[in-house]
Parts: sequence; C-alpha cells; structure tokens
Amino acid sequence: MSGGAIGLNGLAFDGVIERRGTDSLKWDGMEGRFGPVPGDALPLWVADMDFLSPPEVIEAIRRRALHGVFGYVQASSGSYQAVSDWLRINHGWDTDPSWVVSCSGVMPAIGAAIRAFSDPGDGVIIQPPVYPPFFRIVKDNGRQVVENPLINDGGRYRMDMEGLRVLLEEGENRILLLCSPHNPVGRVWTREELDGVCRLCRETGTLLVSDEIHADLVFKPFAHIPAASISPEKADRIITCVSPSKTFNIPGLQTAYTVIADPGLREGFQTSLRAAGIGAYNVFGLAAAEAAYRHGAPWLRSVLHYLKENIDRSLAFFQEEMPWVKTRAPEGTYLLWLDMSASGLAPEAVTERLIQKGKVVLDPGYWFGNQGSGWQRLNVGCPWRLLEEGLRRMKVSF
Ligand SMILES: Cc1ncc(COP(=O)(O)O)c(C=O)c1O
Repeated sequence: MSGGAIGLNGLAFDGVIERRGTDSLKWDGMEGRFGPVPGDALPLWVADMDFLSPPEVIEAIRRRALHGVFGYVQASSGSYQAVSDWLRINHGWDTDPSWVVSCSGVMPAIGAAIRAFSDPGDGVIIQPPVYPPFFRIVKDNGRQVVENPLINDGGRYRMDMEGLRVLLEEGENRILLLCSPHNPVGRVWTREELDGVCRLCRETGTLLVSDEIHADLVFKPFAHIPAASISPEKADRIITCVSPSKTFNIPGLQTAYTVIADPGLREGFQTSLRAAGIGAYNVFGLAAAEAAYRHGAPWLRSVLHYLKENIDRSLAFFQEEMPWVKTRAPEGTYLLWLDMSASGLAPEAVTERLIQKGKVVLDPGYWFGNQGSGWQRLNVGCPWRLLEEGLRRMKVSF
C-alpha cells in the first residue's frame, strides 16, 4: 500500500469493506447485545468507523508483524514525543512528553483514576446523557454515580453550571468525569464553559478527569480546547485522556494515553495502573499510535471531510423524509443524536421496530441515561452507500 494516496482521496472512503466474520463488535456482536437480530441487519451503532485506517498505520503494523518477535515492549520516549507534538500542533497545548502515560484504553485509565483518587462510596459526577460505560465504571468501582444532567437548550445542549456548583460545593463528590467533546450530544465545549468547569473544580479541590477521546473529530468552525490547557499553571488537578483510537479508527489496538502535568498526581495514577496489573503495552498499538500521530494528519483531514458530507446528507434526509425526527449537526464526533420521541412509541418499541422491521441497529438513547429515553444515536462513520441504506431502513421501520 503506497503512502498517503488512499487517505488523501476522499472517494476511497466510499469502498464497502466486509467486516462480518472478523469478530467485529459492531458487525458480529449485535445478537450479544440485542438478542435475535435479522441476519442482514445493518449496524450503525458502536463508535468505530467502517473505513481502513491511514495507510501509514497499516504499514507500521505490517512492518512490525513481519519482524516476527512480539516480546514485551516499553512505551518509548519517541512515542510520548509524538503524542506531545500532536497535542501542540493540533490543539495548541504545550505538554512535556514526561507527562504522558500510556494505557490500554481510556476506560481503563478512568477506572485507575477513580480508584487512585476517591474512596469507596464517594461520589463521581457525570453529565448525562453520556457514554454508557461512564455509569458502569463508577458503579463497578463501588463509587456513587452523581448526575448533573446536561440542559437541552432548544436542541443544543449545555452544562448546568449552577447544578455543578451545588454538587461540587455541597456534596461529597471527589471527581468530575467530563466528556469533551461530548458523546452523544456532539458538543465541543467552549473556552468559557471549560474555564467555568476548571474554576469550580479547582475551588472545591475536585479532581477533573477530562475524557478527550473525540478531540480530533471536530468540525470547523468549532475547535477542541484541552481543559488542562486553559490555565496551565492551575492544571495540577486534571487528568486528561487522549487516544488515537477514534481519530484513526484503531480502537481494537487498545492503546490510549493520559496526560498528567503534576508529578504527584501522575505517580498516584501510575501506582493505580500497576495495582490493577494494566501497566503493559500492546506491541501493535504502540507502533500504530506513533505512526498515526506522526503521519496521520492528511488522512484525518480527509476523513473529517467525508464525515461532514455524511452528516449533511443525513440531516437533509431527516428533514425531507422523516421530519418528525429532530436532530442537529454535531460540533464534534461522528455521532448524530436523534430525538425520536415523536414516534408515539415506547423507547424500547422504537429499538424493536428499527431492528426487526427496518433491520438497522442504532444505540438506544436510554443506554445513555434516563435523559436519553426516546432518543437514538446514529453512527455516520461508514461509506455513504451503507449510511444511505441505513437511513432508508430507518424510514421503513415506521
Ligand atoms: C467518551 C468515550 N470515552 C471512552 C471510550 C472508550 O475508550 P477506550 O476504548 O479507549 O476504553 C469511548 C468509546 O466510544 C467514548 O466515546
């Protein structure tokens, strides 16, 4: 595969790649999650994309595979430098490579942070509707889920800053788990919003864990701002989670990074990783991540262009063909958050109709908290041909 050409050619994303039979969670895992599903059901759920990764990433893995020896690996200073360079060039955030800690995923990192910096029974604040594992990771670690629901302001969500202030000032809540950009509502938080969050956390001594896994999937004119970059001298209680996994479509390689400026906080976090036995690295994940951060920017520009077209075409479809479905363009993420409450059906019945009648699988909104009841999340990260078929199937479901 020759470098660059595929990633630079937007049309290449149009090619449909067979993923059934590859142990793909998205394609092969529907029955496991939903029960019996028609054999030809089209999956537009799980947040990965049906695209090839950047050619440079595939080449890096191929080269590493051909070496043939897959012993333990260490995360080299070169790969940490690549993360640090990416953050500076793409997000204007100056970090030192020594702040970077590799981990097998963002969720393992969040779990490690929760165990390191709170005690059983403590509250961890999340802002639903939000990525479902946020609820689970708090509960499974024996902490309390404390909800500060987002406010739906005519379709555009915002954080309830007053609610947050009360929970932080008056509650026994040790950690705020921020989703930035926010899955599933597609908000890219503004400097003012982030500044407010950082200030509240700082004033109340709350640890801010900022999950920025969708940071690179943002559409102009919106721009992602790392929370820890807002006021670098005050970022000593912030753990930032970043990852090449969503950006370059490599979540199956299980490689993510945390960025922690404060040495004490970093040490506590690393001890927690070690305590859970999750300090080792994946040989292919490290090779892929470094190649992606070093050489993947042109591919990323290209895929963002393609995703934006998919979003615009989907919005036009809903407006013309299913006007009762309310949605809006996400500022970031390749996820459309659809208000389908006007169907007149119970939320579970909507899911049932989509799957059994339309043969199309989305993420039910109620997975994202009570606030998502009546909604569905649509993943547009696939060739337009598949997405168009999925939209058609949605329409015939009702
Ligand atoms: C907000 C958010 N955090 C974390 C993850 C999962 O991260 P990982 O696979 O690195 O654990 C996802 C995946 O969709 C996500 O949307």
